[in-house]
Amino acid sequence: MADRLPIIAGNWKMHRDHLEAIQLVQKLAYHLEGDDYAGQEVVLCPPFIALRSIQTLIQSDGLPMKLGAQTCHHEDEGAFTGEISVPMLERLDVEYVLAGHSERRAMFGETDEVVNAKVQAIRSHGLRPILCVGESLEQREAGRAEDVVTEQLRGSLAGVTVSDPHDLVVAYEPVWAIGTGKTATPDDAQQMCAAVRSELGSLLGQPTADQLRIQYGGSVKPGNIRALMAEPDVDGVLVGGASLSSEDFALIVAHRRERG
Ligand code: PGA
Repeated sequence: MADRLPIIAGNWKMHRDHLEAIQLVQKLAYHLEGDDYAGQEVVLCPPFIALRSIQTLIQSDGLPMKLGAQTCHHEDEGAFTGEISVPMLERLDVEYVLAGHSERRAMFGETDEVVNAKVQAIRSHGLRPILCVGESLEQREAGRAEDVVTEQLRGSLAGVTVSDPHDLVVAYEPVWAIGTGKTATPDDAQQMCAAVRSELGSLLGQPTADQLRIQYGGSVKPGNIRALMAEPDVDGVLVGGASLSSEDFALIVAHRRERG
């Protein structure tokens, strides 16, 4: 099996102003030891307005954390009031950008076509998309979970090529598990992440798919992180609510620590 670098990302959504953001990162750093970061990537996706202050903190304190953004516009610049472009994010040392989070799809009308344009823009500037896919409860109950995710992957990745497998991350996030406290069982998460990998194999070639990182997201907490990460096709997690608690997110990042 390919050796994939685990990636633990926190999606703060529309929480924390830029001052609270600094505090949260300082507390998180306080709870973590050097070994906790080793052999994995830790990515923080705060609101846009906090990126600059966290960038400065990461640099000044030499923190081994990476910056991510929660979305972007697909054009480099122009008359798009309120939007933020990939080159602007690049200047802030942002490495990862979420694309197609289910909240963006459901509340901001992002279709696979829109998500595809964003993925292309992110890639064209050398940043790394974290492409989010996942089925709703109705779709799952109708037995369509794999079909839905397959369709999202095809639409969102149309025309996308990947030479370095670190350059694309896919987050499987069942919509019914996001912010609900309901987590997919490790078995379900594994089954769906394996289905994602198999579709990525058809789209991008199996050798690439074998090396791409696939995250699980949806009510990840300190209590379920180990079981999820133990699954062979789960290479990381995308954490919402629990990433707003420095203690909880630190426990998630430090899940490999021996616990007494
Ligand atoms: P949650 O959110 O951890 O609060 O369920 C996950 C996400 O939306 O990425």
